[in-house]
Amino acid sequence: MKTTTEKFGATPHQPSLWTRADALKVRADDPTTTQPLVSADFPVLSNDVFIWDTMPLRDLDGNVTSVDGWSVIFTLTADRHPNDPQYLDEDGNYDILRDWNDRHGRAKMYYWFSRTGKNWEFGGRVMAEGVSPTAREWAGTPILLNDRGEVDLYYTAVTPGATIVKVRGRVVTTEHGVSMVGFEKVKPLFEADGNLYQTEAQNAFWGFRDPWPFRDPNDGKLYMLFEGNVAGERGSHKVGEAEIGDVPPGYEDVGNSRFQTACVGIAVARDADGDDWEMLPPLLTAVGVNDQTERPHFVFQDGKYYLFTISHTFTYADGVTGPDGVYGFVADSLFGPYVPLNGSGLVLGNPSSQPFQTYSHYVMPNGLVTSFIDSVPTDETGTQIRVGGTEAPTVGMKIKGLQTFVVAEYDYGYIPPMLDVTLK
Ligand code: FRU
Repeated sequence: MKTTTEKFGATPHQPSLWTRADALKVRADDPTTTQPLVSADFPVLSNDVFIWDTMPLRDLDGNVTSVDGWSVIFTLTADRHPNDPQYLDEDGNYDILRDWNDRHGRAKMYYWFSRTGKNWEFGGRVMAEGVSPTAREWAGTPILLNDRGEVDLYYTAVTPGATIVKVRGRVVTTEHGVSMVGFEKVKPLFEADGNLYQTEAQNAFWGFRDPWPFRDPNDGKLYMLFEGNVAGERGSHKVGEAEIGDVPPGYEDVGNSRFQTACVGIAVARDADGDDWEMLPPLLTAVGVNDQTERPHFVFQDGKYYLFTISHTFTYADGVTGPDGVYGFVADSLFGPYVPLNGSGLVLGNPSSQPFQTYSHYVMPNGLVTSFIDSVPTDETGTQIRVGGTEAPTVGMKIKGLQTFVVAEYDYGYIPPMLDVTLK
């Protein structure tokens, strides 16, 4: 297996590299890049369902959009089972942690609406049971297409396989609330090809998901970001000089880091509607650094491309580490080169005293960062925890050149619209 740069050498762009040297600069608990502590007495959105990845309705330029004054979010959602014998422990108590940890297998797309950009009201399931072709409806993006309320929901159809799909429906408003109609025909778009992006056959732990379509502010074309792993059999990747970067003496040993092969994928639409896509080489690779760069998304600001992606402590490679949270990279043009924000890439991580307090951060163009609460310790030792499955306090962040700064904290799940569309 060739190194990342050799492998993509002859293609239209070189993937940028998040190197081991970059990652060595990650510092947990730097207050400018750490999410404020989430208190264990947080409110929950619903006692009936867990929610996690949150996907605000937006337009193709990235603006969070309300319709007729109603804000709308989509969430990955799963029932809570407080009375199901399957989730009771030996003492007959609800084992909420086990229920929460099992949620990915039954994830479904739901929506919520609000007049205030918070205090979300339950909308319901987006697609009826049986519409989506696989067991799991994983993350993606709802795009408001026009003032007729048409919405393209791009998401990941998972198990069996992992396919980027889309389904079209319509958002309908009244003075009392919002409903979703249509969403009846799911169109498969593409899957990992084994040449640019790793397939399940190459690696049972492959990742291929989380579509984020957008219109490039410069060339006006329709593209899509997604999470992938660099193609090749598991274990065959090489962590060479380029992937290591400029490290101090004593940091050359890469251990088993060849197993960590995350990348941020990109595809370009061949048509205006986004029904026909061509995968391009990744924008960014993290071979030898991290195995997951999830839910990649952009903020277009000051003529620059700010690329954000979420990642975990447990997916880091041997010899490098960092908190769960959102990482970022910046470039002057779409295809890079991208450099890590704040030197390391870390933009907003969990504090080390509460390493799992939040996840799935989504940076909006107004600098607000939404995420969900995973679990928060309820005692000093961190052995007792309270499971979330609900919206975290929104964080305000300033993006300035090559740096980012935490500057504010807002209410739970505060996702205000950036523009409102009056439906015809
Ligand atoms: C992020 C994530 C996404 C995936 C979903 C599955 O929290 O891992 O990458 O689509 O959750 O539940």
